[in-house]
Amino acid sequence: MILSPSMLSADFAELKEQIKEVEKAGASWLHIDVMDGIFVPNLSFGACVYKCIREHSNLFFDVHLMITKPERYIEDFAKAGADMITFHIEATEKAEECIDLIHSLGKKAGIAINPETPIDAVLDYIEKADMILVMSVHPGYGGQKYIDEVNDKIKNLRKICGEDYLIEVDGGIKASNVKSVLDCGANVIVAGSAIFGKDITASVKEFFESAK
Ligand code: DX5
Ligand code: ZN
Repeated sequence: MILSPSMLSADFAELKEQIKEVEKAGASWLHIDVMDGIFVPNLSFGACVYKCIREHSNLFFDVHLMITKPERYIEDFAKAGADMITFHIEATEKAEECIDLIHSLGKKAGIAINPETPIDAVLDYIEKADMILVMSVHPGYGGQKYIDEVNDKIKNLRKICGEDYLIEVDGGIKASNVKSVLDCGANVIVAGSAIFGKDITASVKEFFESAK
């Protein structure tokens, strides 16, 4: 399991310290949720925020763009220090161009799908992309309940993608349900409210224990 704690639930006044703590506790990725208030109802933060923590962290920056027409900003997100840039298939008509652009900037490319989007929408891009992100809540907010109906999608994707492909699942994952998500075929787990806003070190360790 790759654990990608979602910065959205961090205390932004303590961002540097909290990011260092998740890294020290054993996480290797950091999930960074960018929202534009159009593709999703909420606003979060842009590239300038994680650019400031880039030099303080060795975590793999897993940037989840919940923005419409992501092609407009991919270069900015790459330059700010993203390692993986994931955009929503529902947000662009230029998916192939987005993947090519991300790769041309030397970054990994992911494609995200909303809970109601069938996997057919991404089948043509799986080979070209490096990861599929399956949303297990409606994007926009942390702290929502996991939508069990996405489990079949994860299982089907795993069959199609083969055993090593990156399949990330995002939303509503806690130590109590992480094992079942992994058993469906996920290998990258996002967790926000279940890690931040409490004892970060203990929560990260509990995730790794529960994943066994
Ligand atoms: C939701 C975001 C998630 C969110 C997950 O739109 O994409 O990454 O931070 O938060 P939890 O783990 O609290 O559901
Ligand atoms: Zn996310």
